[in-house]
Amino acid sequence: MTNAMESRPRIGVLTSGGDAPGLNAVIRAVVKTADSRGYDVLGIEDGFEGLIGTPRYTVLTPRDVRGLLPLGGTILRTTNKGHFGGPRNPADPQDPYAQALQTIRDLGLVGLITIGGEGTQTIALELSRMGAPIVGVPKTIDNDLPGTDRTFGFDTALQVATDAIDRLHTTAASHNRVMVVEVMGRHVGWIALHSGIAGGADVILIPEIPFDVEKVAAKVLERERDGHTFCIVVVAEGAMIRGGNAVYRAAGKLGGIGQYVTDELERLTGKEARCVVLGHLQRGGSPTPYDRILATRYGAAAVNAIHDGITGEMVALRAQDVVTVPLEEAVGHVKTVRPHSDQVRTARSLGVSFGE
Ligand code: F6P
Repeated sequence: MTNAMESRPRIGVLTSGGDAPGLNAVIRAVVKTADSRGYDVLGIEDGFEGLIGTPRYTVLTPRDVRGLLPLGGTILRTTNKGHFGGPRNPADPQDPYAQALQTIRDLGLVGLITIGGEGTQTIALELSRMGAPIVGVPKTIDNDLPGTDRTFGFDTALQVATDAIDRLHTTAASHNRVMVVEVMGRHVGWIALHSGIAGGADVILIPEIPFDVEKVAAKVLERERDGHTFCIVVVAEGAMIRGGNAVYRAAGKLGGIGQYVTDELERLTGKEARCVVLGHLQRGGSPTPYDRILATRYGAAAVNAIHDGITGEMVALRAQDVVTVPLEEAVGHVKTVRPHSDQVRTARSLGVSFGE
């Protein structure tokens, strides 16, 4: 127990960008590790927005994080973009980055743990370059963050998508139908590729391999000739028609490619086809054991990095080990599926079509 009057150095933690299962597990690990090493923790609310204007934060103690490990979402809430959506303009008198840095200093933070994806770590790197003591934690269901082999949230999204594909098999077979399932992933195909393999899909369409819907139809008819009266098609929301672009349902909001493929397959094959869009189901619910463990490792490692005087870096998984890498390695581009990777070759070897 610490003397209530004794003030301990303070670490801040915030969650930013799209939510992902495992965020609360990171927060729990941060608070428990910080407490054991003699730090107080301020939970910054609503992502970086909590550093703008009047600071919005909650002091988090081990008692406050009881029961968080299996809980989806984030108790601190999060913001996608907000004041930090566009590039920084240092000449702006209301520069949100300058406001955030001042708040970090006013709160006396010896470290700020920024839990988020590529967009979050881009903001974090700018604040780090301005002098803020940042340690990033890699989060996104898309698994598209460079610098780490794996982001937490991805495994749970895979579980949701694979369970959905398993369920679609039975209804597709019962009705001799083509079932198309559209999964998330923004502009990369990790969720589609891995859930397609895990779920035994016949067709996997990903942004990294533009497709011809006629080739997909040919695969459906080939299966028909071989006596397989149904077909399972997994399509990443950012998948692209060869020579075309991704399909958007609104400005900056991917969506609609699944229904396009469904309609075209009905037209080209004469078979009934139906589309299921998993959407935010892949972002919700309790994290898998893998994600709980990875999130816990990341949270503890982030506090230990600060304790060791390491900032301007992001914790990362490299093979089996959690390390820290410069924040510069986590921004500027996204980690895409390599078309000649063993995962793609494995799928092809089992007869999966990528629509080309
Ligand atoms: O980056 C995670 C993600 O779920 C993407 O896969 C998806 O395209 C996007 O966020 C959805 O964003 P929003 O929650 O703002 O609709």
